[in-house]
Amino acid sequence: MKRLPCVLAIALALATFAAPGSQAADGEKLMKKCKACHTWNEGGKKKVGPNLFGVTTRPAGSSEGFKYSKGFRKAQDAIGMWDDTKLDAYLADPSRYLKSLGGGRSRMTFKLKKEKDRAAVIDYLGTLK
Ligand code: HEC
Repeated sequence: MKRLPCVLAIALALATFAAPGSQAADGEKLMKKCKACHTWNEGGKKKVGPNLFGVTTRPAGSSEGFKYSKGFRKAQDAIGMWDDTKLDAYLADPSRYLKSLGGGRSRMTFKLKKEKDRAAVIDYLGTLK
């Protein structure tokens, strides 16, 4: 039994190293908030919102076959490629972020209010590629 704490410590260390983003596992759980409107598997279908596979490696508004709102389309060039900072601002308040870039209201009416939750979700989105 004496060796157990040591084994646990090693397992923990390995789990930490193996995680692709530091909080990706928490982020994956939080994705249940997005489920009503999004899929995020490769080639997944659009719902109310676009499929989110690879979103961190592509320009805003480029999910094939999805018709983005006018408010979004007006801001998408200004957003360009998504990165962590931009995703954080968008997820916190989509319409407000689009308007700050010359766009209009986003059809995404959902706000992810807690900064910690956004960080975790963004880590998880980063694994989708
Ligand atoms: C009520 C429905 C709804 C919910 C809930 C929702 N979204 Fe959205 N989301 C949308 C819609 C609709 C769009 C398209 C925006 C537009 O056209 O204005 C969108 C767009 C996005 C985009 C931009 C995608 C691109 O192709 O550039 C990201 C990123 C995103 N959502 C992430 C999330 C995440 C992460 C969650 C959960 C934390 C979430 N959304 C929850 C409806 C939703």
